This record gives sequence, structure tokens and C-alpha cells, in this order.
Amino acid sequence: MSISKSELICDLRNYIQDELKDSYYYQELARMAPTRRAQEILMEFSRDEKRHAERFMDAYCRLTGKKYQPGPARPSSICDYEQSLKERIMEETNAYEEYGRKYQDLCDPCLRRMFWDARTDEAQHAMRIPILLHEMGADCYPEKERCSITGV
Ligand SMILES: [Fe+2]
Ligand SMILES: [Fe+2]
Repeated sequence: MSISKSELICDLRNYIQDELKDSYYYQELARMAPTRRAQEILMEFSRDEKRHAERFMDAYCRLTGKKYQPGPARPSSICDYEQSLKERIMEETNAYEEYGRKYQDLCDPCLRRMFWDARTDEAQHAMRIPILLHEMGADCYPEKERCSITGV
């Protein structure tokens, strides 16, 4: 493994907090969702993030012999549903990249599998967010943005 055990433990702590925060965040977004379908997709994301946190907590416990006690994970308040979704595409792709690096850095098959599965879910989230933007209406992009896109 090209990272130390202590580095991995430290990363796991951060990942657990991030995943719990993301799980709450998607719950909040689900409350703002314009359609039942969008709400269901967002609640599915929320469950996925919670499962990631749980799996990381299991790994933390195996590595340290101690149960991780997560700190309070409250999401920042969401003002703009559409903007938040767009930001989530970046966050999800960053997580995908991060977990992919961990997958490559580790030798333990269980840990590798855990990061591989989380990575796959984050990629799915990123790829499904455009469906949520589409659910907002015929076209979610402002006129100006639309012109610059078609003008490429
Ligand atoms: Fe996640
Ligand atoms: Fe995600």
C-alpha cells in the first residue's frame, strides 16, 4: 500500500464526515425537488451516501479497533436548488477521482472493493444529476448560457 495506515485512518475520518454531510444535503435537496421522480432519485443518493459512511466506519473500526463517533453533520443551507445540483456534479466527480486514487493506493482486497463501490456510486450520482436538472423544466439553462453552449 502506498499510503500509511495512519494516513488512511485520517482520510477515513474525513470521508465519513463528508459522506454524512452529503447524505443530509441530498435529503434537503429532496425536500425542494419539483417532481416525485426527482425526489426519489435524491433520496436514493442520500441512502447511498449514508451507506458509504457506514462502510467507511466499518473499515475504521477494523483498522483501529475503535468505533468512530461521527461529529454533528448538518448541511449548509440551500438557497438555490439548481445551482446546488450543478455544484454537486463537481463534488461527485471529485469524490469519484479521490476514491479511485485510494483504490489504486491500496492492496487489501476488502478496502479496494469498498472504494471501488463508492467510486461507482459517485460516478452514477454525477451522471444522474443532469436528469434532475431536466426534471426542472424544458430547459434549465439561462438564454445566455444556452447561446454560448450552442456557439461552440
Ligand atoms: Fe458518497
Ligand atoms: Fe455521491
